[in-house]
Amino acid sequence: MIDTSNENKDRQDLTQFDEIWLFGYGSLIYKVDFPFIEKIQACINGWQRRFWQGSHDHRGTPEQPGRVVTLIPAKKDDITPCHGMAYRVSPEVFEHLDHREKNGYLRHEIAIEFKDGSSKQGLIYIADEKNPAFLGEASVEDIANQILMSRGPSGENSEYLFKLAQSLRVLNAVDHHVFEIEARMNNDLRNCTYLSETAK
Ligand code: SIN
Repeated sequence: MIDTSNENKDRQDLTQFDEIWLFGYGSLIYKVDFPFIEKIQACINGWQRRFWQGSHDHRGTPEQPGRVVTLIPAKKDDITPCHGMAYRVSPEVFEHLDHREKNGYLRHEIAIEFKDGSSKQGLIYIADEKNPAFLGEASVEDIANQILMSRGPSGENSEYLFKLAQSLRVLNAVDHHVFEIEARMNNDLRNCTYLSETAK
């Protein structure tokens, strides 16, 4: 299994930041298992959320990897912001976070935009197409199907999808990619329920 945690330790000199802000766009929005000083809804520009990263350690297994989100560079004319949550944290939390995000994610610096128009340089975890757990593009149907079939030590892959979609709604954020997969999944689940009822 991949482990990017050691590489992440050396990627930034955290002592050079006056304040450390972390931007979360996936499970880091709703699974906050780390201490933080403050949190504020925020967004980043130039990136799109995609269920293109394999999960072998949280929402899947090495035999049946699940799908979780990463970011891909937005197309040139796409100015849709990617909404999420920004947390002001102390440097110590990265020991835990680097371990949690070890399946291909690397820490990058990013400009985080706040609602009041201000912006701060912060950190973000991105799993790019070069990491071995990257699965890449697939149809909405195939992604929903893989999510439906997968589960791992952190729970059902579908729970990851539903919690992410729900937290985006709470943030009043629209993400067509996430909502389309959610709708497809709900449809699949309704059909399964129908089948099992008629089979009685
Ligand atoms: C994030 O949430 O910011 C990274 C991806 C994830 O852990 O789901």
